[in-house]
Amino acid sequence: MATEPTAQQRNASLIKQFKAAYRQDDLVVLEGFHAVKHALRFGARILAVISDDPAQVERLGAALAPDTAGPILSQCVHVDPETFRLATRSPIGTRIVAVASKSRYSEQDIARRADRPVVGLEDPRNMGNVGAVIRLAAACDIAGVIAIGEAIDPWHVTAVRGSAGLHYALPVIQMKTLKREDRPIVGIDPIGEQLWNTSIPANSVLVFGTERYGLSDALLSICDTRVSIPMRPGVSSLNLATAVAAVLYGGNLAESDR
Ligand SMILES: C[S@@+](CC[C@H](N)C(=O)[O-])C[C@H]1O[C@@H](n2cnc3c(N)ncnc32)[C@H](O)[C@@H]1O
Repeated sequence: MATEPTAQQRNASLIKQFKAAYRQDDLVVLEGFHAVKHALRFGARILAVISDDPAQVERLGAALAPDTAGPILSQCVHVDPETFRLATRSPIGTRIVAVASKSRYSEQDIARRADRPVVGLEDPRNMGNVGAVIRLAAACDIAGVIAIGEAIDPWHVTAVRGSAGLHYALPVIQMKTLKREDRPIVGIDPIGEQLWNTSIPANSVLVFGTERYGLSDALLSICDTRVSIPMRPGVSSLNLATAVAAVLYGGNLAESDR
């Protein structure tokens, strides 16, 4: 007859599961209440949830997201603070983490929304920026986000924390290089036509450059146009995620002719 695992055995197995999920390609650790909440809302397959303070999770859920509080708490295992610390990577103020399967998106998933812009990030270095951009793209109902570069993982745990779990709300993919296809490619670059004076086709791929050096010559060479965000003289550039916000919310994204 199978015996119930002791609390110690259960904790050891949870620590093992979370540690493995931080390394595994198909899994992601959702750090914090907002990431768990959005993942659940947008259909993530959640495999395990732990908290060392479920009373706080309950308060947060009731105050900020009553639609998800019940489902989160019903899956949540109450663990002691030491187990929580050993299972996680960094301090988590909201005292909740979950393991979920990553969504596997393809270029076709992005192509389906032919009437909406796509955001392309060339070789982004700061995973917090990547997460912030995915959150913006989800809020603006963008067709998808493409991380362009050899070794970029847009599902990096820090990016998922930065997006507050909104990776599940729209296709997020990685491509080694951006291919020229039917969508116009618009380079968002400090040297370009001013955003306020330009109409950007709504089916564009809006490409943003890497934090330090901006867009590469190779990517600029395939852009149909370049658009700049006006700045006061002396200011070199905006932060990457801030630039994406300016274009998505402030740009004139006109309907395409297609
Ligand atoms: C931190 S900036 C890169 C700065 C880099 N030194 C340059 O000159 O492009 C990162 C990206 O944000 C976008 N960006 C930032 N400020 C911008 C502006 N004023 N106009 C257009 N794009 C901007 C661009 O896509 C840029 O490649």
